[in-house]
Amino acid sequence: MQNTKKGTHPIQVKTFENPQEGAAYLAKRIADLINEKRDEGEKCVLGMATGSTPEPLYKELIRLHKEQGLSFVNVITYNLDEYFPITSDSNQSYHYYMHRQLFDHVDIKRENVHVPNGDLPKEEVEAYCRSYEEQIEKAGGIDLQILGIGHNGHIGFNEPGSDENTRTRLIDLDERTREANARNFGDINEVPTQAITMGIHTILKAKEIYLMAWGDAKAPAVKNSVKGKATKDVPASLLQFHQNCTFVLDKGAAKELN
Ligand code: F6R
Repeated sequence: MQNTKKGTHPIQVKTFENPQEGAAYLAKRIADLINEKRDEGEKCVLGMATGSTPEPLYKELIRLHKEQGLSFVNVITYNLDEYFPITSDSNQSYHYYMHRQLFDHVDIKRENVHVPNGDLPKEEVEAYCRSYEEQIEKAGGIDLQILGIGHNGHIGFNEPGSDENTRTRLIDLDERTREANARNFGDINEVPTQAITMGIHTILKAKEIYLMAWGDAKAPAVKNSVKGKATKDVPASLLQFHQNCTFVLDKGAAKELN
C-alpha cells in the first residue's frame, strides 16, 4: 500500500502488557515479511531506528535468528539517522549501535547495511543526502520502517517544524533531544548539535510503518500523534498521512489514549 498526501488515516494502535511483548509482536511481523520475500526470491528492505526503544526488538530478532533459523541474507537495511559530525567507529555513533545491537549477531551481509555517514566534510553532505535517497529508491523502496518517538514527537531526527515534504538532510538537534541523548555521551556538551536524518517524506514512502513507544514519559507525544491533528509541530502526527501505520505501545505509552 502506498501513502497518500490527499488525506489522513487513523493510526492503528496495538497495546501490550510490556515492551517485550510489543517487541515480540513486531519481530514476528518482520520475520514473516523477510520469509515471504525470501520465498518470492526478493530482497526485504528494512528502515532501522536506534535508541533505547528498539533494543528489545533487536534482541528478539537475534533470538529468532539463533533459535528459529531466521535468516537475514535477503535483508537490506537503511538507518534513519546518524549524528553529525561523528566517526563511525565512535562508541556513540549509530553505526556502532547497530552493529552491537543487531548486525554483529545475525547473518546480514555487510554490504547490505546502510547507516548515514556522519563523517563527511560539511560541503559534501547535501549531495550525500541526495544519494542516500537514490540508493533507497534503487533498492526498491523501504518495505517496512521501524520508528521510535522523541518526547517532542520527533521521528528520526525530524524535530518539530519538519513537514511532510522533508527529505534526507542535515538538521539542528533540539536541546531536549540533546539532553535525552546525553546519557550516551556522559556530558551534554559532548552531544553533537547536528544530525543527518531521513525526512518525513522519505519515511512516508515506506510501504508499512511501525512506531514503538514504551513508558509513561512517551504518553503525551503518542497521544498528540494519534489523536491530535496532523501538524509539523508534532512530526509523528504526520504519520496520519500514511495508510498503513501502526503504533506498538506498552501500557504506559498508551495511557493517554483512552
Ligand atoms: C533514533 C531515532 C529517534 C529515536 C527517539 C527515541 O534512530 O530515530 O527518533 O527513536 O529519539 O529515542 P529512545 O528510543 O532512546 O527513547
